[in-house]
Amino acid sequence: MNKKLPNFVALLGITLLFISATIDLDNLFNYANQSKPNYINKDNTADGNQIDDKIATLGRVLFYDKKLSANNTIACASCHKQEKAFGDDATQSVGLNGSLTGRHSMRLINSRFSDENKFFWDERAASLEDQTTKPIQDHVEMGFSGTEGDPDFNDLITKLSAVDYYQELFKFAFGDETITERKMQLALAQFIRSIQSFDSKFDVGLVQVNNPNNDFPNFTAQENLGKRLFRDPPNMNGAGCAGCHRGNEFDIDPNSGNNGIIGVAGSTTEIDLTNLRAPTLRDLVNPDGNLNGPLMHDGSIKTLLDVINHYDAIPNNTANTNLDNRLRPRGTPQMLNLTNDEKEAVVAFLKTLTGTDVYTNEKWSNPFDENGSIVLTGSVLSTNEEVFGKKVNIYPNPVENRLFIEIAKGSYVSTVYDVQGKKVYTKNILDTSELDFSALNKGIYMLKITDIITHKSFVKRLIKK
Ligand code: HEC
Ligand code: HEC
Repeated sequence: MNKKLPNFVALLGITLLFISATIDLDNLFNYANQSKPNYINKDNTADGNQIDDKIATLGRVLFYDKKLSANNTIACASCHKQEKAFGDDATQSVGLNGSLTGRHSMRLINSRFSDENKFFWDERAASLEDQTTKPIQDHVEMGFSGTEGDPDFNDLITKLSAVDYYQELFKFAFGDETITERKMQLALAQFIRSIQSFDSKFDVGLVQVNNPNNDFPNFTAQENLGKRLFRDPPNMNGAGCAGCHRGNEFDIDPNSGNNGIIGVAGSTTEIDLTNLRAPTLRDLVNPDGNLNGPLMHDGSIKTLLDVINHYDAIPNNTANTNLDNRLRPRGTPQMLNLTNDEKEAVVAFLKTLTGTDVYTNEKWSNPFDENGSIVLTGSVLSTNEEVFGKKVNIYPNPVENRLFIEIAKGSYVSTVYDVQGKKVYTKNILDTSELDFSALNKGIYMLKITDIITHKSFVKRLIKK
C-alpha cells in the first residue's frame, strides 16, 4: 500500500472539496415539524408547498450559496444575516460589485406567520415563492437579470446544473435532478418559512396568564406599561401600535397604508409612498438588546426611541397622500403626546419580543466552509450512481481492515476524512482497489471518490469497527 501522496494527486487536492462543512442527508434538521405556540394562528404557506425537511435543506444550501450571484460573491445571506435576525446592519445592503440596494434589507423572522402574503416593503411580490428568485434576477443584488449585459436565469440554471451537490440535492428533494426556477422558489420559500422565533420573554409571559391583556408576571412594571400602551388605541390613551402590528404574531395589517416614513434611502429629495409592509416586530433587537439594523424601508430610524418619537408626532407632509387613516385622526397626522416614561415603556416592551434560538440554531446557519465548499454525506448518495455516472460498489461497511472499491475503469482519487474533516488517507485508483483501514482508530469516516476527468465526486459515510 503506497501511503505517499503522488504529486499529481497533491495538485488535484487543491481542486477537491474539503469536508469541514457537511450536510448529512441521513440526519436532517427538523424544519417540517417544529412546534409553534397555540396562540400563533396565521400561516401564509402556499398550497402545495408545505415544509418538507429535504426541500428545506436544499433551500438552506441555496440561501447561503454565493454561486447564485453572477460573480460568485453574494448570497441571500450576505444581506440576510442570521446574527442580525436575517436582516442587515447596513442601511443599504451591498450587492454585486459594491452597488447598493434601493431599500433597507428586511428581517426574515416568522415570515410564515403573517396574514399579509405579499412580500417586500411595497408588497410587489405576490407570494413568498414569487419573491425568492427576484433578488437573483436583480441587476444590483445578484446579477442574473438578463439585462444590461447580465447573464439571465437560464444561465444560472446551466451553471448550477454542473455543480455536483445540486445534482444530488435536487434529486434528493424533488426526485429528479433537473433544476428549474420553480423548484428553487419552493425550496427557498420553505427554508425562509422555517425560520421561526417564539422563545422570547413575551412568549414566556403569555403562557403564564390566561388573558394576554393581564400583566405578565415575568415582566417589569415598565414592560407591562409598554405592553398596554402598544395595544391600546390613542383614544384610550394608548399608542395604537397593535392596530397595525397585531399580536401575538406582531405581523402587519394587510390593509395598512404607509406610516409616514416616506424617504428614499440614499436620497434627500425623493419620496416613496408605497411602503405598506413591515416584517414582524419580533427580534427588532438581538439578545444583547442591540438593534439588528436600522429600521424602516429607508433605514432612516436608528433607535427604538426614535421609532416612538416618529409615531408620537407624525410629520405633517402634504405630499404624503397615502398615510394610513389610523395615523391621521381628525384629518391631521397624529400627535400622541406620550411622556418620556411612556415612550421608554414602549421601547422596553418591544425588547421583550426577542428570542435567542434563531440567532444560533445550526439548522438556519451557513452550511458552507470559508472556501465555499460543502460536502454531502448519507447512505442515499452511494446509491445515486447516475449522478456519478458510474457503477460503484464499496464494501464492507462497517469496515475492519480492508475496504474494497469496485468501479468502472477510469481515473479517480479516493480520500478518507475523519469526522473533524481532517484528511487521513488518499489513494488514486483506476478500477478495483482496496484501502487499508487497519491503522485507523474506530469511528466514523467519510470516503470521497472523485473522477479526475469529470470532476464529479460522491461521498460515503463509513464506520470503522
Ligand atoms: C444585496 C442584498 C440582498 C440580497 C443578496 C438578497 N436580499 Fe432579500 N432583501 C433585500 C432588500 C434590500 C429587501 C427589501 C427590498 C424591497 O422591499 O424593495 C429584501 C427583501 C427580501 C424579502 C421580503 C421579506 C418581507 O417580509 O417582505 C425576502 C423574503 C428576501 N429578501 C429573501 C431573499 C432571498 C431568498 C435572497 C436570495 C435568493 C435574497 N433575499 C437576497 C436585500 C437582499
Ligand atoms: C397605521 C398602521 C401602523 C401603526 C398604527 C403603527 N405602525 Fe409601525 N409600521 C407600519 C408600516 C406600514 C411600517 C413599514 C414602514 C416603512 O418602512 O415604510 C411600519 C414599520 C414599523 C417599524 C419598523 C420595522 C422594521 O423592520 O424596520 C417599527 C419598529 C414599528 N413600525 C413600530 C411601531 C410602533 C412601536 C407603533 C406604535 C407606536 C407603530 N409601529 C404603529 C404601520 C403602522
